[in-house]
Amino acid sequence: TTAFRIADLAARQDEAVRIAEKRAVDRQHAKGKLTARERIGLLLDPGSFVEAGQLARHRCAEFGMDTNRPWGDGVVTGHGTVDGRQVCVFSQDFSVFGGSLGEVSGEKVLELMDLAMTIGCPVVGINDSGGARIQEGVVSLAYYAELGRRTAHASGVIPQISMIMGPCAGGAVYAPAMTDFTVMVDETSHMFVTGPDVVHAVTGEHVTAQELGGAAVQSEVAGNAHHRAADEQDAVDWVQTLLGYLPANNLDPGPAYADDTSPGLTAADLELDRLVPDSPHQTYDMAELIVRLVDDGEFTEVHSAFAPNMICAFGRVQGHTVGIVANQPRHQAGVLDIDASEKAARFVRFCDAFSIPLLTLADVPGYLPGTGQERGGIIRRGAKLIYAYSEATVPKVTVVVRKAYGGGYAVMGSKHVGADVVLAWPTAEIAVMGAEGAVRVLYRRELAGVPPEERDAARRRLTDEYRKRHGGPYLAAERGYVDQVVTPSQTRLQVTRALRMLRTKRQSLPARKHGNIPL
Ligand code: COA
Repeated sequence: TTAFRIADLAARQDEAVRIAEKRAVDRQHAKGKLTARERIGLLLDPGSFVEAGQLARHRCAEFGMDTNRPWGDGVVTGHGTVDGRQVCVFSQDFSVFGGSLGEVSGEKVLELMDLAMTIGCPVVGINDSGGARIQEGVVSLAYYAELGRRTAHASGVIPQISMIMGPCAGGAVYAPAMTDFTVMVDETSHMFVTGPDVVHAVTGEHVTAQELGGAAVQSEVAGNAHHRAADEQDAVDWVQTLLGYLPANNLDPGPAYADDTSPGLTAADLELDRLVPDSPHQTYDMAELIVRLVDDGEFTEVHSAFAPNMICAFGRVQGHTVGIVANQPRHQAGVLDIDASEKAARFVRFCDAFSIPLLTLADVPGYLPGTGQERGGIIRRGAKLIYAYSEATVPKVTVVVRKAYGGGYAVMGSKHVGADVVLAWPTAEIAVMGAEGAVRVLYRRELAGVPPEERDAARRRLTDEYRKRHGGPYLAAERGYVDQVVTPSQTRLQVTRALRMLRTKRQSLPARKHGNIPL
C-alpha cells in the first residue's frame, strides 16, 4: 500500500540520517571533530541543504563488505546556499569506513562536481578521510584520479575550496591541492603524501602527523594551506567570508554590494600622508594602507602565514571585489623570494580567471639574494609572477608606495607587465637599485682613487646626487611609466576612479591551446 511505502521510505531515511548521525556524533565528537552533516549545517544557510545520493550504497563484496552497506557510502553531497548564493558541497563522513573513497562515494562526488560545472557554482569539499578504500582496491584509485581530472577541468571555471577537517593523505591530497583555496583546522587535521609510519620505515625519521603535515606546517612552511583555522567554526567562517568575495563562475560578474564610500577626503585618507617613515630603513605596516583603500576597512588575506613578505588579500572598492597584491615591508623588507613569488602568482591567476581586478601596492627592494634562493630555482619560480601579471587581462591598478627596485619594479604590476593605471607616491623610489648600491657600482673606481679620509663624504655626495636624479618617481613619470604622482591622501580617491573607469575593460590574448607558465 501507499502508506506502507511511505513508512518504508521514512524508515530508510531514519536509518540513513538520524541513526547514522547518532553513531557519527559519538565517533566524531570523541575525536574533537564535528560530523559530516554538522559541518554542512554550519556552512550553509539554515534549511537550504538539499542532499543527493542519500540512499546510495556500495556494491563491493570483498572482505565481507556485502554485510555492511551503510546508506550514503561515507560521503554527504548536495547543494545549498551561503548568504543566499548557490554552492555545491561534499562532506566526507569519517564514521563510515573512515570516510574512505570507494566507487560509490567517488561517483557521488564526481556527479556533484559535474553539477557544479553545469550550473556554474562554487564547490566546497570537506575532507576527513582515511584515503582510498582499501577493500575496493584499484577502483578507489581510479576515482581519485577521476576526481583530480574533474578538479583540473573545473579550475578557472568555478571556484573550488577545500576544507581539511581530519586526515587527508596519499592520493587524497592532490585534488584539494588543485583547488583554489585550502583551509586546515589546527590539531585535528593533517595532509601528507606519505605518513609518519612510511617516513619512519623509509628514512628512519620519527615525526608526528602534526609535525609532518599539520595545519601549522602546511600554512606557514609548505604553503599548501591558505588559512590555519583555530577550530572548525573558524574554518567555516573563513570559507563563508571568502565566498562572499567570489563570483559564482568565470562568466559571473561577481557579487556587488552597496557602495557607501565617501567621495571626499576622510581623516583616514589624511593619515596616509604620514604612513611612510622618513628613514628608508624604517618600516611600516602595508596593512595600514590596505584598510584605508577598501570599503569599511575590511579585507581577507589568503596565505597570511606563508611568505608574509607578500600580502594577497580580497577586499572591496565601491562594493566590487578586488584582489590586492602588496609587498609587506614589515617582513624581510617586503623582498621577493620564491615563496612570495609563487604565492602572488597563484593569486594573480585566480583573480584573472574570475575577472577580479588587481590592485598592486608596491614597496619592494628586489629579489632576495642567496644560494638558497638560486639553488631553489628563484629564476624559474620567480618568473611565475611576471608571467601571471603579464597574462592577466583583468583591470590592473598599481600604487608605488616606496621602493620599486630592479626586477621587483618590473614585476610588481608595472606598466610593462600590463598595468592599466600606475600611481606613485612622492615617496616612491623607482630605480634599478637603491642609491647606496648604485653608487658602489657606478663609482667604484673613482671612489677607490679618493683618499680614505674623504671617501665617506664623497660617497654621501654621490649618493645624494643619484637619489635626486634617479631616486624618485619623476623619471618614471617623465617616461609615462607612472600615470600620476599622487599625494598619499588622494590614493583612495584615485584608485576608486581608476577601478571604476576600468570596469568595462576588455582585452584578449592571442588564441592558443594554453600558455606554458614555468612550473
Ligand atoms: N579504507 C577502508 N577503511 C578505512 C580506511 C581506508 N583507507 N581508513 C580508515 N578506515 C576505517 C578503519 O578501518 C576504521 O574502521 P572501524 O571503525 O570499522 O575499525 C575507521 O575507518 C576509523 O579508522 P581509525 O584507524 O580507527 O581512525 P584513526 O583516526 O585512528 O586513524 C587514519 C585515521 C587515516 C590515520 C587511519 O585510519 C589510517 O591509517 N588509514 C589508512 C590510510 C591508508 O593507508 N589509506 C590508503 C592509501 S590512500
